[in-house]
Amino acid sequence: MKYFALTLIALVAVSCGENPPPTTPFALNVPQGFPPPPIPEDNPLTVEGVLLGRRLFYDPILSRDSTQSCASCHSTSFGMTDHGLQFSVGITGAVGDRNSMPLHNLAYHTAFFWDGRSPMLRDLTFIPIEDSREMDHSVEGVVAKLNASPAYRELFWKAFGVKTVTAEELGLAAEQFMLSIMSGSSKFDRFARGLESLTPEEDLGLRLFNGEANPNAPMRGADCFHCHGGTLFTNHKFVNNGLDSVITDPGLGGVTGNPNDMGKFKVPSLRNIAYTPPYMHDGRFQTLMEVVDFYNSGTHANSPNIDPAMGDIIRSGGLGLNLQERLALVAFLNALTDTSIESDTLFQNPFN
Ligand code: HEC
Ligand code: HEC
Repeated sequence: MKYFALTLIALVAVSCGENPPPTTPFALNVPQGFPPPPIPEDNPLTVEGVLLGRRLFYDPILSRDSTQSCASCHSTSFGMTDHGLQFSVGITGAVGDRNSMPLHNLAYHTAFFWDGRSPMLRDLTFIPIEDSREMDHSVEGVVAKLNASPAYRELFWKAFGVKTVTAEELGLAAEQFMLSIMSGSSKFDRFARGLESLTPEEDLGLRLFNGEANPNAPMRGADCFHCHGGTLFTNHKFVNNGLDSVITDPGLGGVTGNPNDMGKFKVPSLRNIAYTPPYMHDGRFQTLMEVVDFYNSGTHANSPNIDPAMGDIIRSGGLGLNLQERLALVAFLNALTDTSIESDTLFQNPFN
């Protein structure tokens, strides 16, 4: 009898969870041809962590009045951006001043936001929560709500082995979900793997995209690869592509305070670009044709800190692309669309 009682106590102790149950490693779906994504060593992806992160991402309790979630401004139907809006609207009705950004393949990025002001996804999570023009809450407020929820306490226990949720695990879970969003199965990828061919128009667009913009070169190019080259269609730098002759948003310069950084913005990935109008940090262009027309003939050589390559193109008379070539570039950009970002159940709202 005494022996039985002891076993019972031991069993109760286990079920109360002195030791958290083991987690299951999350098998990241890395697209063929992509380098291994650098996942932070102190936050390995687990099934429990990713699914908890997804739940948090879709849960409006992260906002002060529980009406807005991360997904409100990062929708899978719009390539993880905000429903075609130029600027996002927060819970108080306040309007932001930058265009929402896509959230795929973030594992390869080391600086986040248009101005690069956040280096880690786990810390970035607190910024929209506390931004008065966005979710207008406090991290302590969110953590208190999570601890008041038996369901969340259970999920945090299973994912991180903690009995009381803190801001740290909130950030780690959100980071895990964001790191899990990979995208690399567009028509262009299938073409690159030899599985599908491009139309002659898309093929011309590809050659223009990767061609040097030298009017004396045998083949006319649009020089896009210079900044949007590589697997992710970005060189991960911050540059000024000549949008304005007078800088209104300092971009990177507002973060570093360096006058040489004024007007520089994160070079965005062009994957899934067809999903994410309007374009640029301030969403000034509605269509990809407008963007291509801008590069062709609308750039400002006198823009402070303009990228030298960009300045050379302008001084030599612009890209000089004809209508057929501009349409071809747009056709190529449309071939960078990966519909799995919209259809993969892993990225969808778990509350539905
Ligand atoms: C009210 C709309 C809104 C909400 C809510 C929102 N975001 Fe954003 N998000 C934006 C905007 C706008 C930007 C660009 C801001 C900038 O560059 O200053 C952005 C940028 C980002 C980026 C940077 C991506 C990159 O490539 O650099 C990440 C990551 C991100 N958001 C994650 C989140 C997470 C996680 C949440 C929830 C905790 C969230 N967002 C909630 C509007 C929103
Ligand atoms: C000198 C570097 C550079 C070159 C060359 C360049 N881009 Fe860009 N591109 C950028 C930067 C930086 C941004 C973001 C600028 C901003 O919002 O202030 C951008 C933004 C864009 C966007 C909007 C992305 C979004 O999410 O809103 C598209 C589309 C685009 N570029 C396509 C092209 C094409 C097509 C070419 C070739 C004709 C090209 N770019 C050449 C640097 C460059």
